[in-house]
Amino acid sequence: MRKIAVNDLKPGMVVARAIYNAEGQVLLNKGAVLKPTYIIHLQELGIPAVYIRDAMVGDLEVDDIVSEQTRLEAVKTMKELLGGRTDREAAHVPLLINSDRIQRVVVKIIDDLLERKELMLNLIDIRALDDYTFAHSVNVCILALVTGLTLRFSRRDLLHLGVGALLHDVGKTCVPLHILNKPGKLTMEEYELVCRHTQYGFDILRMQKEVSLVSARVALEHHERYNGSGYPRGLKGEEIHPFARITGVVDVYDALTADRVYRRAYPPCEAYEMLAGAGNYTHDYKIVKAFLTNVAAYPAGTMVRLNNGAIGVVTGTARGHSHQPQVRLLFHPSGEPCREPYDLDLATNLDYYVDSILPAGTIATAEEGYKVAEDDKRDYRVYNLGERPDS
Ligand SMILES: [Fe+2]
Repeated sequence: MRKIAVNDLKPGMVVARAIYNAEGQVLLNKGAVLKPTYIIHLQELGIPAVYIRDAMVGDLEVDDIVSEQTRLEAVKTMKELLGGRTDREAAHVPLLINSDRIQRVVVKIIDDLLERKELMLNLIDIRALDDYTFAHSVNVCILALVTGLTLRFSRRDLLHLGVGALLHDVGKTCVPLHILNKPGKLTMEEYELVCRHTQYGFDILRMQKEVSLVSARVALEHHERYNGSGYPRGLKGEEIHPFARITGVVDVYDALTADRVYRRAYPPCEAYEMLAGAGNYTHDYKIVKAFLTNVAAYPAGTMVRLNNGAIGVVTGTARGHSHQPQVRLLFHPSGEPCREPYDLDLATNLDYYVDSILPAGTIATAEEGYKVAEDDKRDYRVYNLGERPDS
């Protein structure tokens, strides 16, 4: 299977992973054959990309790190908690959190993660632009817990970390939607208002008896930065609660790898480099390292060009070898299709490395060769922490 941008889908392609809407209803099942009307519908819903089954790649299947059911239940819970508010009422309605339900969601995620032999993040979570806040909260929770497990946290700490990470942006319910979703640059006043979501979040969570103080500190401190450049209080280093430091790291990673209204997603390998470069500057290096151990720089299904010019698709990545995936080679350096696609493990074949990734819309068939998709006009703006406080 391979990830393809919705704009590059062609009728006849076969869906490799079920596509859901924000309510958790299946839009298209695994195995569905795309028709022109389906493609238009996906475009209208703002779904950026889907996984398709690829004749050349064969039967490559990749599992999500938590079960589909757990993720859907979590997104639904967050949608019910945060959604359905209009701008006007947002600041005036006290938010009641069903702490029991939140805890159940976090316990389910922890149990799913504990069941897995390996915690490699190997799949790009595809979400519609509209669902960003809900899907982002759930992803931040999952990624924070993966990091907590890597750092060998106790189950009790994992629960507090998970609840804090899931609710880290709950204060955004007090910030008008038109500001949160504004495509352009924010004015100074708008920026300050968005920054206040940390304090709002803390206040909301302190009102809930069952939410611990450390979970509430995640909401307050997740935009603090290791070198003191963050907000709201400009805390430094160890002054920032470790749970908030973890959430800060994974929040940035997840925001970078998602399409936003004001920029396209960065590929995981670029987000990886950005975070690795931020270690011990804006983020705690120990935590960045613990998190990145579990991140595949080239998630399964990514088409890559190797240093010798051969083209292939990533089929997996072993833990600790984030940049050395297993690649199923499809085309020789000459551009000729491989008669029998074969697998090359870059972790053990050190003469080869990934030279570049090919855009998600790249079409590859044995008959016609591969056609690299035209540049998708991505806006690779330099990431500026000050410019977008909600990222
Ligand atoms: Fe935030």
